Amino acid sequence: MDKLKIIGQRALHGTVQASGAKNAALPLMAAALLTAEPVLLHNTPQLMDVRTLSKLLRSLGAQVEQQGDALRIDAAAVDHYEASYDLVKTMRASVLVLGPLLARFGQARVSLPGGCAIGARPVDQHIKGLQALGADIVVEHGYIVARVATPSGRLRGAHITTDMVTVTGTENLMMAAALAEGETLIDNAAREPEVVDLACLLRRMGAQIRGEGTSQIRITGVPRLRGATHRIIPDRIEVGTFLCAALATRGDVTVQGADPAHQDALLDKLREAGAQITTGDDWIRLRADALPAGRPRAVSVRTTEYPGFATDMQAQFMAVNCIADGAARITETIFENRFMHVQELVRLGAQIDIDGHTCVVRGVPQLSGANVMATDLRASAGLVVAALAAEGQTLIDRIYHLDRGYDAMEVKLRALGADIERIKTSPGA
Ligand code: UD1
Repeated sequence: MDKLKIIGQRALHGTVQASGAKNAALPLMAAALLTAEPVLLHNTPQLMDVRTLSKLLRSLGAQVEQQGDALRIDAAAVDHYEASYDLVKTMRASVLVLGPLLARFGQARVSLPGGCAIGARPVDQHIKGLQALGADIVVEHGYIVARVATPSGRLRGAHITTDMVTVTGTENLMMAAALAEGETLIDNAAREPEVVDLACLLRRMGAQIRGEGTSQIRITGVPRLRGATHRIIPDRIEVGTFLCAALATRGDVTVQGADPAHQDALLDKLREAGAQITTGDDWIRLRADALPAGRPRAVSVRTTEYPGFATDMQAQFMAVNCIADGAARITETIFENRFMHVQELVRLGAQIDIDGHTCVVRGVPQLSGANVMATDLRASAGLVVAALAAEGQTLIDRIYHLDRGYDAMEVKLRALGADIERIKTSPGA
């Protein structure tokens, strides 16, 4: 298991390039199952989660190959319809193959994801929605076993209102509805940019979709979809992580290849904390090298669905608050157990009290490096931000969590002036 060694308190300076969005890449890759023609996805990030889904698509019979910065997926020869527990347990988003397999082949067997570090995360809404579209679904031996039960063998359009806003749930239902007979209306749909990106690819493939980006998505099914070429949107969480790191180290960083329109909630909070933000069409610059108090101001946040403050940015923003002037309340409303980074931040000298879904962070003038453990993907990113700001050396263990979702993070941070090094540990060591 690799570790990251970080010597903190080096202000980050310079320009860094954003990668394609993990949370867009995964549904887009799953969407390639909807057609027998190749789908080419440019700007695909190099990530463990992308490799895991590639492996799953291959196990179904698809061809997946890297062509420069693009991933080419050809699902013409798919002849297996099962996503095994081994794959789904390492990456919950594997459940995204359920809708496409069911819609194109009339059957799918997908393992239930089970619990994960940040909460129970059930998939009941995916199941309920697909049942409304005419699927027969039973859960047996830990697997969702789904079949299309209509006389025509195709799913049929329906009006679905999800009980809560679910991102991958919305995506699964969009993909299934794209090949269904008739019209589907998804109410209470997720409005995330990644959902919009999926609609954009599906439309290129010949789907008829309206309303993406709002909470009501309308889809008129078509009998078949074709291949397409698409460029994946920038990873707003990676971008946000670099901006938090720039603020925490009082640096001056420009992130290229970003989409400022996707970052409104975060940019507002960063400004409130004292950062100077300027933006262009595809870049964001954050300057924090002349903060009035020499430290960021404490800023409270409450995570909500898009366009609110992203739960995936909560740990990184908390890390900034750890060294801020004043006290902030961080409230997590999306996941029930997403404060596992707190005890590790406390090891770095942070002052944080947890009360249910809220943390009170009292900023300290400086953190001090220590050995800490990554517990999940975004928690690890929060620890990296804190370590970059801390005095002395921090060793972050279990960074395979970070590798799931960040493309060459330590390489990019080093280019910005961070003292950061990956320590490879041989297997069995
Ligand atoms: C996606 C993102 C993840 C992000 C999350 C919230 C991907 C690949 N992952 O995860 O990075 O943190 O959105 O923005 O895009 N829920 C149910 N039943 C369901 C579905 C969801 O109860 O059937 C609950 C979940 O437990 C959670 C909430 O709804 O409390 C939101 O989850 P959801 O939006 O589905 O998260 P993911 O799509 O898994």
